[in-house]
Amino acid sequence: MRDLLKIADLTAEDLAEILILSERGDLARPLEGRGVALVFQKPSARTRNSMEMAVVQLGGHPIYIQKDEVGLGTRETAEDVARTLACYHSIIAARVTDHRDLDLMAAATETPVLNMLSDTDHPLQALADLLTVKQLVGRIDGVRIAYVGDANNVCRSLAEASALAGAELVVASPQGYGLETVMDALPDGVRQVADPAEAVRGADIVYTDVWVSMGQDAETEARMSAFSGYRVDAALMAACPEAWFLHCLPARRGEEVAAQVIDGPRSAVWRQAENRMHTARGALAWMLSR
Ligand code: CP
Ligand code: NVA
Repeated sequence: MRDLLKIADLTAEDLAEILILSERGDLARPLEGRGVALVFQKPSARTRNSMEMAVVQLGGHPIYIQKDEVGLGTRETAEDVARTLACYHSIIAARVTDHRDLDLMAAATETPVLNMLSDTDHPLQALADLLTVKQLVGRIDGVRIAYVGDANNVCRSLAEASALAGAELVVASPQGYGLETVMDALPDGVRQVADPAEAVRGADIVYTDVWVSMGQDAETEARMSAFSGYRVDAALMAACPEAWFLHCLPARRGEEVAAQVIDGPRSAVWRQAENRMHTARGALAWMLSR
């Protein structure tokens, strides 16, 4: 049994296997009669629903646990929450404010722990992102992805996944919000630049995420000002006429992306959202097969 706390926990072979499992419609029901705990310290639409349905498709029973129910780190320590949930469930999945809580949970139990988003990583999102790239472009190796905006949890997992799968990723962020703030060294094939126009040149995919992530509300004013030149708008998309647009969602139209881009013909965000369910199923099946 394997934890999946960040994309860097995977080898290139693991990642390829998860993507293959994600597209298979004939998976057995390895979760028959078994439970998966879904602990959320933050809100979610896609992750909760895609995970619940993936668990059901694998024959299992998902239990959605809201922020105040188990009180991760408040009512009870993260370790004791994990030990408790391990009594009933085959996998413990958690969306946490502080990634260290996932490490504590994983260390406290043999039951595999799955990261459903932390302050530093969003591996389930990156799996869906790469599956979407593969479906849109026909391959991942050598594909050029431009990420414009905040080098956050989503960007970091995308960077690690791109490197593993051989995609080229160019990230454009303002000073102080680049990948160097979250990674000691940039993986192979990943570049950080300041200019969005430079990032999207020759891109097959243009990707962005919100300027203010969950829990960063106190920084809203500073972030709005720092990111004002980093909107993915029609002019930026015109500089890469072949590129698809992706966004992990939720989106803020008029902030990081113009409505005519996210709602336009080159946007594949709904296919990407659907792929969250297929890759959640692939990731769960992979974890159970270890
Ligand atoms: N992309 C994503 O993780 O969406 P939710 O926050 O709605 O789960
Ligand atoms: N970066 C965003 C992603 C939401 C899916 C956040 O952490 O809020």
